[in-house]
Amino acid sequence: MRVYIPDSFLNDLEKGPSHAVKALRRLVRTGAVTLWSSRKIKINNLPVQKSWPEMKDGFFHLNLKKRKIKGGVVEHIIQTFDNQSVPLFTISRENDLLLEEVNAAVKRVITSGRFVLGSEVEKLEKELSAYLNVKYAVTVNSGTDALELALRALIDHAPAGVITTPFTFHATVEAIFNAEHIPFFVDITETGFLMDATAVENFLKRECRKGRDGWIHSSGIPLRALLPVHLYGEPCNMEELEEIARSAKLVIIEDAAQAFGAVLTRKNQSFFAGTVSDAGAFSFYPSKPLGALGDGGAVVTSSQKVAEAVKKLRDHCRSGATHEGIGRNSRLDELQAAILRVKLKHVEKFQKRREQVAAYYMKHQRLFNDNLHLPHPRNHVKRHAWHLFTIRACGSTGREWVSLLRKHNVESRIYYPHLITDLPFIFTCSPQKHTEFPNAKQRTQEVFSVPMGGALSQKEINRVVQALTSSKHTKRK
Ligand SMILES: Cc1ncc(COP(=O)(O)O)c(C=O)c1O
Repeated sequence: MRVYIPDSFLNDLEKGPSHAVKALRRLVRTGAVTLWSSRKIKINNLPVQKSWPEMKDGFFHLNLKKRKIKGGVVEHIIQTFDNQSVPLFTISRENDLLLEEVNAAVKRVITSGRFVLGSEVEKLEKELSAYLNVKYAVTVNSGTDALELALRALIDHAPAGVITTPFTFHATVEAIFNAEHIPFFVDITETGFLMDATAVENFLKRECRKGRDGWIHSSGIPLRALLPVHLYGEPCNMEELEEIARSAKLVIIEDAAQAFGAVLTRKNQSFFAGTVSDAGAFSFYPSKPLGALGDGGAVVTSSQKVAEAVKKLRDHCRSGATHEGIGRNSRLDELQAAILRVKLKHVEKFQKRREQVAAYYMKHQRLFNDNLHLPHPRNHVKRHAWHLFTIRACGSTGREWVSLLRKHNVESRIYYPHLITDLPFIFTCSPQKHTEFPNAKQRTQEVFSVPMGGALSQKEINRVVQALTSSKHTKRK
């Protein structure tokens, strides 16, 4: 068996304490384990080989927990992940695997003495646009700001109507309000999680009229943008949405906060989610597919005008020594930029692992309770980012499954248990007439997300499968 030692424990091990090393030596002597880490070293003559963990069968991470025992002595307890609960995300393990490189990046920034809008941000923006194959990437300090600043850059006059869905994270709608626009909501598809193109058409037909410069809501608010959300990392069908947007003269801003690395096909060509419209907004919140060690975000666009406008807005609309308007401070700092540059180099490895985990869940679908519906493969989705692996519990509720999985020591969570439109204040700010969204409402009852991450071990995903399988005979309603 391979035992992978995370970087954060290597130094501790090198220094001692000796009983932790003794325990490892005993394990190695039995011939049952070999030691691996991100560098080739010797710990008190114990050979440690270098490898990138593959998380295959029989692969364990070591979790050396520090415990204070009597007299203040620190004892290290060696555990594999087996006996712990299976985590929903594997953020700290992924960071652990990159700790050496991250430490070097942090040191580089500290010694540079430049902490805001320096060469790390500049290089990250170039690397992001090269990776995503898009002309411009402008970093900001969150996904929420990325959405807001993209909306401000693309729509001249506020308030304007922005069409989105109520089944999303609060920030999508918050950004619309923050940009001083008005959200209008349409339902999601009957069995999926994403904006329904037919629902957009119906909304335009039923509640709006065609004006000279585009559609106008019956309240008099001109509609200017479509804001689809690539929820859970699944790209929306952009070809369908683009057709409607073109004929209704709407700009499109993609909420790609959860979808870094997702790929969609459009007119038989592949594109990264977030890059096919007027602007895409990414979040680098730590749990996201490309996560910083704090907050961060980016707007990507192929328009120089939009990129320049966002650059201005994020830095107080500064122009030399003067200011050309009211912007804000939404700069990504150099430390996060340097860390993100490290994470971007490895983003494909973690993406691949998440794809393996998703494929494994799908492969075992037939063993699960019949009323569990796993995500469907869709023709336009070339690669799902698998930020979350979300299952629909039809005939029962997501809530029941969360508590059932908890009994099996498997973490799960509901994204999202309420619609944005269920918040009492939303319709005091929006003049929308049609306020029922049956598909989205149903999803809030059904969904639950199971462990998904770039550093889940095979044992752990087996445990998730077992937990979903052992509940096969759960009483149906
Ligand atoms: C769909 C969606 N949009 C926007 C955001 C906002 O991103 P941030 O948290 O970086 O502001 C998030 C973050 O969770 C999100 O999930």
